[in-house]
Amino acid sequence: MTRLSAITPSGHVQLGNYLGAVRRWATQGTEQDVYFISDLHGMTTPHNPQRLRSLTREQLAVLLAAGVEPRSVFVQSDLVRELGALTWVLECTCTYGEAARMIQFREKAAGQSSVRLGLLTYPVLMAADILLQGADEVPVGEDQAQHVELARALARRFNGTYGEVFVVPNPVTPPSAARVRDLSDPSRKMAKSAEDSAGVVFVLDPPELVERKVRRAVTDNLGQLRYAPQTQPGLANLLEILAACTGKAPAELADSVGSYAELKNAVAEAVVEELRPIRAATMALLDDPAELDRIRAAGAVRARERSQHRLAAALRLSGIG
Ligand code: TYM
Repeated sequence: MTRLSAITPSGHVQLGNYLGAVRRWATQGTEQDVYFISDLHGMTTPHNPQRLRSLTREQLAVLLAAGVEPRSVFVQSDLVRELGALTWVLECTCTYGEAARMIQFREKAAGQSSVRLGLLTYPVLMAADILLQGADEVPVGEDQAQHVELARALARRFNGTYGEVFVVPNPVTPPSAARVRDLSDPSRKMAKSAEDSAGVVFVLDPPELVERKVRRAVTDNLGQLRYAPQTQPGLANLLEILAACTGKAPAELADSVGSYAELKNAVAEAVVEELRPIRAATMALLDDPAELDRIRAAGAVRARERSQHRLAAALRLSGIG
């Protein structure tokens, strides 16, 4: 059984990425799993080349520091030729309507005067990532579930039209912390590319900054400590973050703390302690570029070997190559 997932270097890794994704890749992953840095997806909105390269490196270090199996990781662009080829085949399997319907595309494109075509085809590249590696399960947060549905549809369509090549992947949504919200605006999900980072806790933020961001989190003036995501989203978000760090249920935690201030102190402490070892290990890895390069190169070799036969079959059956 192969699980596959990825993170895009469009910013520094934030708490939602960590609790909702990276931590699970580390604790539940096996050597057969595949976790990668999707730097090609990092080019779908205006980007700075140097920053893309350095964030790719930083995110690779964070994954390894968090305990993701080194044999499972690679960098997407190390397979740019293979993925470019399969993306084209899948673009010719996907309709314009299907791509244009994607919620993330509509959200990211809204109000932009100039939208990169790659933003529209982003989920097709994601389907290529998933199908090329033969993933059975794709663990992602709610925000990416629709993209995995598209990958399923394209796998079925390709197999039905040209012949059985691809595994039809299953999306898996994590039970808790599926959506960590922005601390300053709980109507939005926490995002690494947020314009205002006051409500975004980054995994590499120093402890004092984490504490400050948590203390300034928006709650409400109802003064009622209960877990009510609909009516008290800010409070519910803090309870969910604490739940993800302690393994307790959010409603149970709401009963056990005395005030909003006490809750914020508990959240700040839990998050700081959760992130402390990862921050230290990331710094150590970034100080050892040769080791990071070695892991990256070995990961690319494994990812290419795992996928070669599927790409060859897809090209042959669709009438090219
Ligand atoms: P990305 O970089 O947006 O997010 C990486 C992972 O973090 C999860 N996540 C969150 N979880 C909880 N709360 C949040 N606030 C939060 N924000 C992000 C995401 O659900 C995701 O699991 N397109 C993908 C990367 C990708 C990919 C793939 C994933 C490229 N190819 C193939 C799966 C399979 C992305 O940009 O994730």
